[in-house]
Amino acid sequence: MFEAQTIADSGKPEFYRALGRQVDALLDGERDPIANAANIAALLFQLMPDLNWAGFYFMRGGELVLGPFQGKPACVRIAVGKGVCGSAVAKRHSIVVEDVDAFPGHIACDSASRSELVVPIERGDTIVGVIDLDSPTPGRFDADDRAGIESVAQRYLLAIRGGNP
Ligand code: SME
Repeated sequence: MFEAQTIADSGKPEFYRALGRQVDALLDGERDPIANAANIAALLFQLMPDLNWAGFYFMRGGELVLGPFQGKPACVRIAVGKGVCGSAVAKRHSIVVEDVDAFPGHIACDSASRSELVVPIERGDTIVGVIDLDSPTPGRFDADDRAGIESVAQRYLLAIRGGNP
């Protein structure tokens, strides 16, 4: 059974190096896309401070559909171009939202959310889904978080080796 290690508060780059090692250890030897997404969501929610939601949406028939997550129940379907998640897919890049109230079209799944980070999971030219993190603190996410979670998305893709979530 995998035991998550507490990551010392020694700065975000070091935090994400340690997190990356833990993600790799957690996914080692397992290719199942849903099981691996579920464990990543649990690990992020457990180890990252100050989150109220952490999880996945996957592309299904041209829209995002809710995948494994930790936090309150969330909206199930998000059209491409809608909300922060759909905007990240449409623009094909990560989005850091410092204040969700200032993001036009933000979809409020949990009213406690004040800031958000959405990272596309991109295999070549195809976006297979997104990782979505919400925080109750305004401005919780910065460029280090963005780079760290983009690395988690790549580690996830490597683990599932061409499988489709
Ligand atoms: N806030 C997201 C919706 C998903 S929930 O935060 C879990 C958005 O605007 O796309």
